[in-house]
This record gives sequence, C-alpha cells and structure tokens, in this order.
Amino acid sequence: MSQPFPPGFLWGAATSAHQVEGNNTGSDWWAAENRSGSRLGERSGDACDSLHRWPEDLDLVAGLGLTAYRFGIEWARIEPEPGRFSLAMLQHYRQIIAGCLQRSITPIVTLHHFTCPRWFRADGGWTAPHAPATFARYVAAVVPILGGVRWVCTINEPNMVAIMHAATRKASTQQLTASLPDPDQAVTAALIAAHRAARHELADLSEVRSGWTVANLNAQAAEGAAQRADDWRRLHEDQYLAAAAEDDFVGVQAYTRAIIGPAGQQPPAADVRRTLTGWEFYPQALADAVRHTAGLLPRVPILVTENGIATADDSERVEYTRGALTGLLRAIGDGIDVRGYLHWSLLDNYEWGSYRPTFGLVAVDRDTFARTLKPSADWLGGVARANALPAD
Ligand code: BGC
Repeated sequence: MSQPFPPGFLWGAATSAHQVEGNNTGSDWWAAENRSGSRLGERSGDACDSLHRWPEDLDLVAGLGLTAYRFGIEWARIEPEPGRFSLAMLQHYRQIIAGCLQRSITPIVTLHHFTCPRWFRADGGWTAPHAPATFARYVAAVVPILGGVRWVCTINEPNMVAIMHAATRKASTQQLTASLPDPDQAVTAALIAAHRAARHELADLSEVRSGWTVANLNAQAAEGAAQRADDWRRLHEDQYLAAAAEDDFVGVQAYTRAIIGPAGQQPPAADVRRTLTGWEFYPQALADAVRHTAGLLPRVPILVTENGIATADDSERVEYTRGALTGLLRAIGDGIDVRGYLHWSLLDNYEWGSYRPTFGLVAVDRDTFARTLKPSADWLGGVARANALPAD
C-alpha cells in the first residue's frame, strides 16, 4: 500500500439523471433526440432504467465499499409544467436520498446536469430574462427533500452548457476531440446568476455545502501559443472557476487535455493513444486540473466530481484510474484540500447521443438492464476500503 488518502476521504461513483434513468420525456434532450433528422445518433430510450432500478444501483455502490454516490435530480420530472411541481417525483428523489443514508452512502446531489424541461427551452432557455429566477423556483421546491444531504452541485459543467449552446446543440462533450467553440457569454452570465440564486435557496440548509462542477479542459500551449492558450483557458474554464470563489466547494471534472495552437484548439496528434470518445488517453488530467483549480481558488475545498475513461478494455480503466489517483495523491500531499473522488461513471450509460463510449465500472445489458460488475469496480472498491492505492 502507498501512503493513505486523508481520513474521511469520500470514495464514490457518479451518474446523471438523463443518462441513466430512461424515458425522460419532459426534457429538452429527449425532444432533441426524438426530433426527425436529429443529429444525435442514438436515443436515450430506457437508458439504464435507474428510474426504477436505483435501489440496485445503491446496493452496488455500498457492496463495493464505496462511501458516496453522485446522482441527479431531474428538473423536467419535478416541474413538468411551469410552476407545477410533482409531489410524487419529489418523494421519489427523497427515497433515493434516504436509500443512500440507510446504506451509509453520502449522497451528492446534482440539480442540473445538461437537461432542462422542454417548456423552459421553449420559453427561451437560459437566455430568457427570468431564467435564473425560474431555476431558483425549482431549487426552492427541491430544498424540503434535502434533509441529511451535505453536498449539492447546482449546475454541472456550466462551461460545457455555454459551449454547447454556442454550437447550437450539435456538440456533445465528445467535441473535445475536435475544437470547442467559444462559450456563449449571455448563457454564461445567466448560469452564474442561476447558480448564485440556487445557492441562496440552499443557504437555509445549514448542513449543505453547495457549489458547481466545472469541466477542467487542461489547456496546454503548443509552441508559440502561450498567450492564445491563456486567453482560451480564461474563456473556456477560468471564468467559471472564478465564479466559485465564494462557494463551499468546487467540483473538478477532468478526463483529458486540450492543446491550444496559434489558431486555437488543435485535435490530438495522429499518433496519440485515444479512448472511445476519441480523447487523448491522459490520466495526468486529474492532477493538472486539481492543481490549476487550487491555484485559482486556494481557499475552496475541492471534490473530484468526475474522472474516468471510455474504454471497452476494462484493464485500461484500471490503468487510467490508477494513474489519475497517483497524481491526485501527490497533489493532496502538496497540501491541496481534496475531499473525495467520484468516478465517472457507475454504469455504462447514455453518452449524449451514443451508448458506444462505455465509462462504467458496471456493465448494463441493453435489453434486460442486468448489471454486471467489471474488475475495475472491484479494484476501485479495494482502493476505497483501504483508503490507499495498492502498491503494484
Ligand atoms: C459530463 C458527463 C459525461 C462525461 C463524459 C462530462 O462532461 O458531465 O455527463 O458523460 O463528461 O463525456
């Protein structure tokens, strides 16, 4: 065993509502997937049926010895029509929270993970003048079910939301392989306002730490492009980190790196090792992201809310995660305040237009929804139980 992680370090896995629940028919993504001529290759459909199978998912998390589970509450289910809230759906998510607590799993709740109710989108989406207040109204409806919750992520990857908006929704996060457009600044302003309004609604819950989770893109300058990379990083990432300066924590999400050349983001070199999303295999991404975030936000605790790899070769998942955690441990040793690590993802799930990139610690049969643990799940469970990396 190597040096241990800090006492009480959270070890978990993450999912998002739309990617695992299935039949999220009231959401804008469902509408986009099912539109004729949709550019999203595959539909989410039943996803992993976690809407019904969440107890099984929690049993898997607990059985592995993981101590935390990050999952989403789906706005489109809670507020199917503007200002009309579903008590049954609020109770549904309350049961998941209670299910975590009963199993001694720390629930980490995400309030917005890319999807919105269709009516919100039709009403102008994030660029409508009242969008932040509308989001806050939804958050206020969720507050009563959050008893016992300590960690709430308001908005997942606001930078990717603003980038996807700029790409008129044709981009998925997989566009990291190509070139990300600049984020839409009007959407960015609205998301920051919505985040602050949500934190205000959560403030009455004294036990809740709230923050948002930023896609850390690890911009690195190609030769002669140092200034360009600094500007790119500020626009695509740092403005969202800066908005977290007063937060209770910041979520770090890292997978790969972006190389910035004189003309902007460059695709990875032809000979680099790639994952199923086409991204460069780059386990150092996590430590780079944590160090960059801590440099900008030295007083804000960090929670790694996503890190993982899309691969059909599970031994590669262990190799990647071991590399990422080795770097993370070094960063912690250098004094960075990291509270936990949540692997993306618990399940092979709907990867925004395709089921092909498999990020899961657990395989899901697409016909029966049967869950099968992969060796990487046992490996991460072993790390969690030891609170340390194995020596090999
Ligand atoms: C998102 C997840 C996504 C993952 C892998 C993150 O950007 O939060 O929803 O599945 O990356 O692409």
